[in-house]
Amino acid sequence: MPEGKAVQSMFAGIAGRYDVANHLLSFGVDYHWRKVLVERVAARQPKDVVDLATGSGDVAFALKKRLGADVKVQGLDFCEPMLDEARRKQQGEDLLEDIRFAFGDCLHLPLEDASVDVLTISFGLRNLENRDRGLKEMQRVLRPGGALIVLEFTQPDAWLKPFYYAYLRGILPLFAKLITRDKAAYEYLGGSIASFPSRPELAAEMKQAGFGEVRYRGLTGGIVALHEASV
Ligand SMILES: C[S@@+](CC[C@H](N)C(=O)[O-])C[C@H]1O[C@@H](n2cnc3c(N)ncnc32)[C@H](O)[C@@H]1O
Repeated sequence: MPEGKAVQSMFAGIAGRYDVANHLLSFGVDYHWRKVLVERVAARQPKDVVDLATGSGDVAFALKKRLGADVKVQGLDFCEPMLDEARRKQQGEDLLEDIRFAFGDCLHLPLEDASVDVLTISFGLRNLENRDRGLKEMQRVLRPGGALIVLEFTQPDAWLKPFYYAYLRGILPLFAKLITRDKAAYEYLGGSIASFPSRPELAAEMKQAGFGEVRYRGLTGGIVALHEASV
């Protein structure tokens, strides 16, 4: 698993160009993935949601727009330049200005025990220095009946693997260098995806960390998975 400080400075280095790179390198499919996540959250009718590793805030914004003014939405991240992007983007829209963006490390969450209905984490779990510790922290802060909903790259379906890994190793770092001027960050992305657990392996890790029922499904040929773990 990657070293936290290195992850922090890598995201600080690309914060201003993160959104553009994200949308271009995923061919815009990231909007769809986020929508699926938000609908799963809405189905649980939470009173409050905390989006972990929120980055530039797009999941928090989509949650707020879908859930409305009565549901409290917060975004936490340990990289201040990414949070600054989120704060910049929320300016001028009353509904979005309601979201609190704050420093929060997933390994030491600044939240009380059993205090949150739903936690979301989108493309963040893969970056944690200690995934087991992070999952246990998430379990700690959820109320009984609450849920953690994770969107993350994973190992795709077998037929797609050769093309996908060729894209990750060959094309993605080159495109990324043009967009972000940081090829290393996207070489890291490819490597971290290839070494991430499969869907059932991640579900097993979640249960090991103390979650009860864990359901999961693949999206877009299994490039991305959505895991929903209940407390
Ligand atoms: C790939 S970005 C994802 C941002 C956003 N969730 C999205 O879907 O676009 C990963 C984010 O995870 C954050 N991150 C990584 N490790 C973290 C940790 N231990 N605690 C909090 N944030 C972390 C990084 O700072 C970065 O903003």
